[in-house]
Amino acid sequence: MSFTVSLERDKTHPSIAVITVDNPPVNAMSIGVPGAIIARLEEAQADREIAGVVLCAGGSGGFAGADIRVQGKAWPEDEPTLSEMVARLENSTLPVAALLRRNALGGGLEIGMACRYRVATPGTQLGQPEVKLGIPPGGGGTQRLPRLTGVQAALDMIVGGDPIDAKKGHDIGLIDALAASDDPVSEAAAYLASQVESGLRPPTRDRSVDGTDPTLFESARTVAARKQRGQLAPLACIDCVEASTTLPFDEGLKFERQKFGECVSSDQAAAMRHAFFAERQIGKVPGLAKNTPVRDINTVMVIGAGTMGSGIAMCFANAGIAVTLVERQQEALDRGLSRIAKTYAGMAEKVRLSSEEAQRRTSLVTGALSVTDGSDCDLVVEAVFEDMDVKKSVFSELASVMKPGAILATNTSYLDVDEIAASTGDRAGDVVGLHFFSPANIMKLMEIVRAERTELEVLASAIALGRKLGKIGIVVGVCNGFVGNRVYSTYVRETEFLLEEGATPSQVDGVLTEFGMAMGIFAVRDLAGLDIGWANRKATAHLRDPVKRYCKIGDTICENGWFGQKTGRGFYLYEEGSRTPKPDPDVDAIISKCAVEGGISQRQISNEEIVERAFDIMVNEGAKILEEGIALRASDIDLAMINGYGFPRWRGGPMCWAGTIGLGTVVARMRKLSETHDFWEPAPLLVRLAEEGKTFADWDRENA
Ligand SMILES: NC(=O)c1ccc[n+]([C@@H]2O[C@H](COP(=O)([O-])OP(=O)(O)OC[C@H]3O[C@@H](n4cnc5c(N)ncnc54)[C@H](O)[C@@H]3O)[C@@H](O)[C@H]2O)c1
Repeated sequence: MSFTVSLERDKTHPSIAVITVDNPPVNAMSIGVPGAIIARLEEAQADREIAGVVLCAGGSGGFAGADIRVQGKAWPEDEPTLSEMVARLENSTLPVAALLRRNALGGGLEIGMACRYRVATPGTQLGQPEVKLGIPPGGGGTQRLPRLTGVQAALDMIVGGDPIDAKKGHDIGLIDALAASDDPVSEAAAYLASQVESGLRPPTRDRSVDGTDPTLFESARTVAARKQRGQLAPLACIDCVEASTTLPFDEGLKFERQKFGECVSSDQAAAMRHAFFAERQIGKVPGLAKNTPVRDINTVMVIGAGTMGSGIAMCFANAGIAVTLVERQQEALDRGLSRIAKTYAGMAEKVRLSSEEAQRRTSLVTGALSVTDGSDCDLVVEAVFEDMDVKKSVFSELASVMKPGAILATNTSYLDVDEIAASTGDRAGDVVGLHFFSPANIMKLMEIVRAERTELEVLASAIALGRKLGKIGIVVGVCNGFVGNRVYSTYVRETEFLLEEGATPSQVDGVLTEFGMAMGIFAVRDLAGLDIGWANRKATAHLRDPVKRYCKIGDTICENGWFGQKTGRGFYLYEEGSRTPKPDPDVDAIISKCAVEGGISQRQISNEEIVERAFDIMVNEGAKILEEGIALRASDIDLAMINGYGFPRWRGGPMCWAGTIGLGTVVARMRKLSETHDFWEPAPLLVRLAEEGKTFADWDRENA
C-alpha cells in the first residue's frame, strides 16, 4: 500500500478539516483509497468542532478517477468502492468542498462533482473525456454535470470530451470559486467556512437541471451524427444527459450505468482503448535507453517554403521555436512567408488564436535565401522537391555548413534516407527522416525515419521533438513510402481496381465513408491533387512488375490535364467555385475503356466486397511491414493510419480492425481472391498468426 489519506485541521480555519489523498503518481482511486477517504470523513463527522471538510490531492495535486491498473481485476468485497465513496461524499452531513488542482478529468471530476462545492486553481483542466474511450462517464458525471451547469454546457463537455480550464468552469457554474493564492488549501477552507456561515446549498443530486429544452438533444444528435459519425458513445452520452432531465437522480444513475455497460463491452470501446494505449507506446524503441541524451532544439532551419516547408515552419512556431525559412528565390520565399502570415491571421479572425499570439508566431519565422544564414540552428528540416539529386546536393551542402551537433532531417515521402544520409559523408549519424503530413501544421502524424546510421541520440531527440510539437511521432525504418504511404498506396491501388471491375467512384467513396473513413479515397485524391501521384508512378514505373496487373484509370485522367479539385476535374467533376464532388460521365467512360483494354469484364460490386478489399489489403501490407521490421509494433501502423489517413479511431486502425474480424477470416478471404487477382498472397506473418488463432495485439505483446 503506497498511498496515504490524512486528516488535519486547516491552520487558519480550524473548524474546517482537510482530507489529503496522496497516491503517486496521479492520486488514482486504487483499492483501499475510497475506504480510507470514507474513514477520514467519518472521523471528521465524529468531531463536533468540525463544520466542513476540504478534500484535496497531494503530490501532483491532480485528482485521477478509477485506477487504470486495477481495471478488469476483482475489487475485494470488503473494500468500499469508488461509487460508494462518491455517494458518501455527496450525502455527507458535513459539507465537503473539493479542491481541484492541475487536472480533474473523468473520474477525478466526478468525485469533485459529488462534493457540495468545488474550488479550483485557475489553470486546472476539467473534463469528461470518456467519450474518447468509447464510453459515457460512468461515475454519475452525466447526471451531476447538467445539474451544475445546465444542459448545453454539460452536453458540450460530455459529448465533445475536450477539457475546459477552471476559469471557464467557473463561468458555467461547475466551479464555485477560484483559488489563485499560493495557499489554495486555506483558500478552499475559507470559502467553505463562509458557506457554512451563510447557509448551505443542497447536495448536487438534489439540484434541478436548467435548460431542459428538448430540441437541444435533437440538435446534439444531429451534430454528433456528422462530427462523430458511426460512433455509439456520443449518442449514449446524449441519452444519459437527456435522462438527467426526465428521470429522478437515482434512476438517472441506473440509466447511465446501463449505457456505460453497453458501451464498455463494445468493439468500439475496445478499439479506442487500443488507440489510447498505442499512443502511450510511441517512442518506446528497443535498445534506446530512457536516459539516452537528447540534443536541445531551440532554433530550426526549414529548407523549401512550399506546401510542406511553410506548414512545417508553423509547427515549430506553434511550439514557440524560432525558424529560419530558406528558399532559392525571393519570390518563392515571399509566397511561403505570406502563406504563413495568412494562416495565422485567419486563425486570429476565427478567434482560435489571440491576435497578439498570431503576430508572435508569424514573427518567429524569418526568411533567408541561403542555408548559411541558418548554419548555427540546432535542427534543419529539408522540404525541397521530391528528387534524389536535389536532396543530395542540399544535404552535402548542409554537411559542410551546419554547426557540429546539428540534426539534419529530411521530409521526404518516399526516398531512401540512407542514400540521402550518405551524401553527408561523416555526418550520416546526424541524419534522420522527419516525415510530416499535409497540412503539416494540423496533421498529428509524424514518421520518424531511423536510417541505418542514425545515432541513438539523434533518434531520441527526434522522439522528444515529436512530443514537444504535439505530434504522434512513430519510429519507422527505411523503405519506399515508410509505413503510412506504403500501406496507403496498396489501398489506392486496390480501390482503383474496384473501379475497373465495375464499381463507381461515388459507390466506393460512399462505402468508405460509411465505414468511417474521414473522406472517400477518390475525393481525397482529388483534394490532394492527382499530379503528384502520377509523377511518382512515372518515376517508379521501372520498379513495377510488368507481369502484374496495372490500372491506368488514374493515369488517363491525368493525361487529360484533370488533376482534381484544383483543375475542376479529377475522379469527379467540380462546378466553378465548388468543392462538392459530382459524378462525371466522362470518367465513367474512361473507366469502361480501361476495363476493356485490361480485358476485365465488369460486374456489380457489392459494398461488402469494397470494404473487404480496401482494408484487407492494408492489413496485408501492414503485416509485411511488421515482418520486415519497418514498424516496431502493429499498433504503430494503426496510429499512422488513424492520424495520417483518416482511418476511424473507433475501429482502432486496420491491424486492430482485422483482429475484430478474425485473422483467419481475413486470410481466407485473401486466399480466395488470390486465385483470380494479383497482390493477394497473404503475408507469412498474417498466415502464422491466423493459424495460431492470434491477433496483431498478441504479436505486439509477445514482441514488446
Ligand atoms: N505535399 C505533400 O502532401 C507532402 C507530404 C509529405 C511530405 N512531402 C514531401 O515534402 C517535400 C516538399 O514537398 P512540397 O509538396 O512542399 O513541394 P513544393 O513543390 O510545394 O515545395 C518545394 C519547395 O522547395 C523549394 N526548393 C527546391 N529546391 C530548393 C533548394 N535547393 N533550396 C531551397 N528551396 C528549394 C522550391 O522552390 C519549392 O518552393 C517533398 O520531399 C515531398 O515528398 C510532401
